[in-house]
Amino acid sequence: MKILGIETSCDETALAIIETRENEGVLELRVVDSLVHSQAELHSAYGGVYPNLAKREHNKNLPILASKLLGQDYLYNKIQIDRIAVTEGPGLEPALWTGITFAKNLSEAWKVPIIAINHMEGHIVGSLLKDDRFGGEWQKLKDFETPAVALLISGGHTQLLKVDNNYSHCPIVGSPTSIIGETKDDAVGEAFDKVARLLGLPYPGGPHISLLAEESRAKKLPSPIKLPRPIINDGTLNFSFSGLKTAVLYAVQKAAAAHNLNDDFKKSLAREFEDSVADVLDTKLRKAIEQIGAKAIIIGGGVSANHSLRQRFQNTAKEYSLPIFLPSRHISGDNALMIAIAGAIHSQEFSTDPHAQGTKSF
Ligand code: KG4
Ligand code: ZN
Repeated sequence: MKILGIETSCDETALAIIETRENEGVLELRVVDSLVHSQAELHSAYGGVYPNLAKREHNKNLPILASKLLGQDYLYNKIQIDRIAVTEGPGLEPALWTGITFAKNLSEAWKVPIIAINHMEGHIVGSLLKDDRFGGEWQKLKDFETPAVALLISGGHTQLLKVDNNYSHCPIVGSPTSIIGETKDDAVGEAFDKVARLLGLPYPGGPHISLLAEESRAKKLPSPIKLPRPIINDGTLNFSFSGLKTAVLYAVQKAAAAHNLNDDFKKSLAREFEDSVADVLDTKLRKAIEQIGAKAIIIGGGVSANHSLRQRFQNTAKEYSLPIFLPSRHISGDNALMIAIAGAIHSQEFSTDPHAQGTKSF
């Protein structure tokens, strides 16, 4: 079966095709192609994603990417696509609808069903992919014992989930994932982006903060201030990052008033911020592991590209002797490959009849 994945939940327009088959009750897949067009540069002027601009850009870029992936006459030529998997949420409403409408048009033209995919589940299954190279070998998703704990860290979300599905089995077994902790205010990626803005760095700020923090570590710069570790010991699995951002704002204002807002100050503040985030995420991850008796750790979302965080989570996994699944750097950010994979998993729940239950009409 060939599945087309469509992702437009935020500021990446993405399409991907995978091929799937079932081998003795196990899902196997091959990556055919995957295209991601980032609008980050356009949104940079606004210091964050501007929803109506995202909508306009998705509408412009979806047909361009589809022509590249499927050929010029993709709408009228019957292409061998058997299912369309599209992100239905969570995300920016106007942006999501561009992808859903595009999927609907293709579905009507090609007479193939649509599978609605949760973006966060996409990030989970993306981390279970062994090989993201195009035209690569047939592969199974990484196998793990349940329950697993998933930590999803992106620009829009910060969530801890209990995962009872082993996604490599056909059909998937167990109940759906359940949220066991989440942010009460800003998402962690949002905090990276806002702190970057305070330091005069472009959007998206995560990679820039990370670079400054690494330079501070290399130069062994002392921390200019001790930032808070918000709600680290509140006994819950929830997060809060808005106070941390405010603490950075005050530190920046104070340094500016003292004519001390120089490069070294920015580097060491970026490192202190990154360390604070790492302490909070790691502490809550450990708590979740113990609380649910996790047998595996899955990390997903754009912020999981962060080198220092990856290191922390890997150390924790080693300490608890648990397998850890991190997304490859290529697919830690938003992409349609993960959406197509989630589509493959869910299409196993249905018969090969394209009008079977479970497929979605919007
Ligand atoms: O998952 P994603 O691509 O989009 C959403 O679903 O939000 O995540 C984007 C977020 C942005 O906030 C970006 O600053 C952050 O991921 N990010 C990073 C790094 N690379 C991207 N944050 C920290 N360190 C990084 N290396
Ligand atoms: Zn995402």
